[in-house]
Amino acid sequence: MFDLQSIVRPNVWRMKPYASARDEFKGTASVYLDANENNLGSLAGNNYNRYPDPHQKALKSKIATIKGVKPSQIFLGNGSDEAIDLLFRMVCRPGQDRALFLPPTYGMYEVSANLNDVQLDTVQLTADFQIPVAEVLRNVKPETKLIFICSPNNPTGNNINPEDIEAILDNFDGLVIVDEAYIDFSDEPSWTTRLQDFPNLVVLQTFSKAWGMAGLRLGMAFASEEIIALLDKIKPPYNINEATQELALKALDQDEQLKYMIEEIIQERQLLEAALPTLAIVEKVYPTDANFILVKVKDANALYSYLLDKGIVTRNRSSVPGCENCLRISVGTTDENQKLYQAMAEFKV
Ligand SMILES: Cc1ncc(COP(=O)(O)O)c(C=O)c1O
Repeated sequence: MFDLQSIVRPNVWRMKPYASARDEFKGTASVYLDANENNLGSLAGNNYNRYPDPHQKALKSKIATIKGVKPSQIFLGNGSDEAIDLLFRMVCRPGQDRALFLPPTYGMYEVSANLNDVQLDTVQLTADFQIPVAEVLRNVKPETKLIFICSPNNPTGNNINPEDIEAILDNFDGLVIVDEAYIDFSDEPSWTTRLQDFPNLVVLQTFSKAWGMAGLRLGMAFASEEIIALLDKIKPPYNINEATQELALKALDQDEQLKYMIEEIIQERQLLEAALPTLAIVEKVYPTDANFILVKVKDANALYSYLLDKGIVTRNRSSVPGCENCLRISVGTTDENQKLYQAMAEFKV
């Protein structure tokens, strides 16, 4: 049985969160002398001399409507990378607790585990990049607090079978993190629709991909109100800056433009998926539901350097077990994709 109290670090239960000036006085006033701000104004303009809303109320309320969850089920982070780090800090006692991940997958789970001195157990995805469920459950130890699942998975691009994720959720008493950074490019429904079924589910999403806001750093975690309250308790008070909150609010009004960009990227992805296998150097184009494609070639190192010489940067994943001789290629604009294709077509082994 999943029991949040038993997996959260005792110091996290015990600690009092930082009480910001904006927490202690919630009304409106004509003179604010409570936060040691610069009341003369800001060299950056706007209201940037003032601290931002630590609870991001306006933003959460809009996201809640779009995502069909309560505002109290949303945590906002300085990128979803911040949520990943805080999840470790919330439940894993350094040097004692463990987490489990399924490579080849997103590298930050391992970086955050190492930073927090948490032993990370590894179960390799199968040859078609799916979860070997029985092996995962065999590798769960009494100290295992987190399992990270990335779907669509980075760098492979595929969706993880939902029934396998459900089996892990049903049979593991720690938190299951389903990282959906690329969900907007996928036909699969989001796991946010299943939050009421699984008290141990945390879903991560981000504004960095489909929304085109990687530079603003805004990530989301969706979970039970209890889990979100704990993440809010331990986050740095002003983790989402004012400019990001303002710009994200504006972006959230542009759902037509978002839809257009997603459709465009998927269409370009499909063109690349059809074109790349016709090239002699391409051995395999892996199925993808993301905004990138994993491509296996004859000699990835040579192709990577050749493309660099042509001014085209891809991600060489050759050294990642399971991705030997693979490049991960983001879907670009029509023009960029054509340049990539042309350059690859002219590559002599
Ligand atoms: C699977 C996955 N999760 C999370 C992130 C990080 O997202 P953010 O920019 O919100 O920190 C990335 C970025 O590449 C990613 O691939």
